[in-house]
Amino acid sequence: MAKKVQRIGILTAGGDSPGLNAAIRGVGKAALSYGMEVVGFRDGFRGLVENHRMTLDSKGLSGILTLGGTILGTSRDKPHRMVIKGKTRDMTSVIRENLQKWGIDCLVCLGGGGTAKNALRLHRAGVNVITLPKTIDNDVAMTDATFGYATALDIATEAIDRLHSTAHSHHRIIVAEIMGHRAGWLTLGAGLAGGADVILIPEIPYDVKKIAAAITRRSKRGSSFSIVAVAEGAMSADDASVFAAAEKKLERAKTLNGNTMRLAQQLENLTHLESRVTILGYVQRGGTPSAADRLLATRLGTACADLIKQGKFGVMVAARGEGTEPVPLEQVAGKRKAVPRDHSWIASARHVGTCLGD
Ligand code: F6P
Repeated sequence: MAKKVQRIGILTAGGDSPGLNAAIRGVGKAALSYGMEVVGFRDGFRGLVENHRMTLDSKGLSGILTLGGTILGTSRDKPHRMVIKGKTRDMTSVIRENLQKWGIDCLVCLGGGGTAKNALRLHRAGVNVITLPKTIDNDVAMTDATFGYATALDIATEAIDRLHSTAHSHHRIIVAEIMGHRAGWLTLGAGLAGGADVILIPEIPYDVKKIAAAITRRSKRGSSFSIVAVAEGAMSADDASVFAAAEKKLERAKTLNGNTMRLAQQLENLTHLESRVTILGYVQRGGTPSAADRLLATRLGTACADLIKQGKFGVMVAARGEGTEPVPLEQVAGKRKAVPRDHSWIASARHVGTCLGD
């Protein structure tokens, strides 16, 4: 029979996102109700190496539901490639031994696709792990939703709403760059909800001449301003082929560097309308989580504690409809949920006359 779980560890890894504290609280409070002890490790996987921790008792878990960011801190450190005193080292076995030494029976990792990959590595090395899907990008495979997305969607939509009045007053094109890494969920969602005239996402490489033609048509119809919602990972069809051929991360990064500024300049040249750029950036990740994210994070967190009690490890707790479902980490790690070309949001955008750049 599997050993009864007495003590669990929780960490948050990767970029922060609204709802992390709600999830920590959900896992922690439910675990405490099962008589488990809860330890929070600071700054992602690094906390497991440096024994940088905090006790998450009921006092430590209260008052955090509505807080943005993560009370544990986060980092993009990977267990198998961690910089220690200036040298990159594989800390996997150190982490496993530390967890054994400290009596941590299960490690809960709150993160996105990268975190699922790292958690799987630890699981394969003999650590009992469970992950929860968080990211504003909504790009984690095998889950209906990730917490952080709903809040970021609200923020980006409000930004588009606000850009409308100033673009309208000045008869300008405003190109708003929206986060999302290499997925278009945030831009498509906010663009649709905010009524952007052009929506550009990584899944649909664009042709700048077609965008300019759509803006010019609008202008001839009497709308002398346009809002272009562009995903940080969107690119022209030409750049997309360079990107596909680029093997190294650095080359790929260079392809995207300054893309939004270049696009705005190209649109100004082609349409003869003044254009401006607004990069929404980290504003999208900061601040209080929305009600939808608090709810999702709490649902996933409490379901996670149930799975720990059942001794079910090596899984991500996925959101599935109104419920949750454990999905083996092998099915999540290294996969990315892109926007399918036949997604209903894309069809709706086209139906209301939005230009998607193709
Ligand atoms: O994955 C979340 C995210 O905010 C992406 O949208 C963005 O590309 C990236 O993180 C930014 O990462 P960092 O916080 O390391 O600058």
